[in-house]
Amino acid sequence: MRASDLPAPQSAISPLAFDYIRRLVRKESSIVLDDGKTYLVTSRLGPLARECRFESVAAFISHLQSTSTGKLHTLAVEAIATTETSFFRDHHPFAALRDEILPEMVRRRSTSRTLSIWSAACSSGQEPHSIAMILRDRFANLEGWNLQLAASDISRRMTDRAREGLYTQLEVNRGLPAPYLVRFFEQTEDRWLLREDVRKLFRFFHQNLAEPWSVVAPVDILILRNVLIYFDVDMRREVLRRVRGLLRPDGYLLLGSAETTLNIDDLFTRVPVGRAVFYQVTPKKGQER
Ligand SMILES: C[S@@+](CC[C@H](N)C(=O)[O-])C[C@H]1O[C@@H](n2cnc3c(N)ncnc32)[C@H](O)[C@@H]1O
Repeated sequence: MRASDLPAPQSAISPLAFDYIRRLVRKESSIVLDDGKTYLVTSRLGPLARECRFESVAAFISHLQSTSTGKLHTLAVEAIATTETSFFRDHHPFAALRDEILPEMVRRRSTSRTLSIWSAACSSGQEPHSIAMILRDRFANLEGWNLQLAASDISRRMTDRAREGLYTQLEVNRGLPAPYLVRFFEQTEDRWLLREDVRKLFRFFHQNLAEPWSVVAPVDILILRNVLIYFDVDMRREVLRRVRGLLRPDGYLLLGSAETTLNIDDLFTRVPVGRAVFYQVTPKKGQER
C-alpha cells in the first residue's frame, strides 16, 4: 500500500504543538508563521505525517518534539514553506528581462563573455526555467560564453523537482506560452518534460537563505521573488545586506511584486523597467556603476 492510500491522519493540533512548529520553522528557515495559521500547519504536515506512518499530525509533532533535530524536522520545515510558483509569473518582470535587462547585460559583458544569474528561492523551477527558455529563444549569440546560471531553494524536494523539469498539465497551463510548450517540452505519459538542453542550463542546489550562502562570486542578476515576504524585517534586512555584497555594481535585483527594499535597506535604487521594477545597489558618492 502506498502512503497516499492511507486514511488522512487526524488533523487537530494543540496550541502548544502549533507553537513548537512555529518556533522550529522560525529557527530553521526564518519563515514567520502568524497566529491563526494552525490550518496551514495541519494541512501541510498532514501528507508528511501520513507518509511517515504517524496516526495523526499531533502524533507526528509530538515525535518531533521528543527527538533531537534531524531529517524529519528538516522535512517538516520544508513542508510548511509556501512553494506557490508558475512559469513567467506576473509576466512583466520576464518581459523586462527579455527586452531590456538581458540585452543590456549581454552588451555590457560582451568583452568578458560571462553572465551570472541566481534565482534564490526557485521552488519547483518554473522561474529559472522561464529564464532558460528566454535565453534559448532570444540569445543564441551566447554560444561559447561562460554562463553561470544557478537556482536554489531551502526545499530539497523542490530543487529535485526543478532539476527533473517534469510538469503536470495544470502547471504548464499556468503562464507558459503555447509556442514555448511546443518548442521546449516533450510530452511524456501524463506530464511535460523540459528539453534536456534547457533543463540543464541552470544548476540547482540547496540553499537556506537564513544560513551562510554558498554563492560567493559576484552576480549580474539576482532573482529573489516571493520569499522575503515570509521573513521578519530583521531577516529581510540581513538578506538584502548580503545581496548588496553579492551584486555587481551594475547588476540587478528582482523582487516579487509585493516586495520592496523600501524602509528595509535604503542603499538600493529602485529602477522601473517597462512595467516591472528592479533594484540596483546605489553607488557610493564619487563612485560609478
Ligand atoms: C512562494 S515560493 C516563490 C517561488 C518563486 N521565486 C516565485 O516567485 O514564483 C517561495 C519559495 O521560497 C522558499 N523558501 C522559504 N524559506 C526559505 C529560506 N529560508 N531559504 C531559501 N528558500 C526559502 C520556499 O521553499 C519556496 O520554494
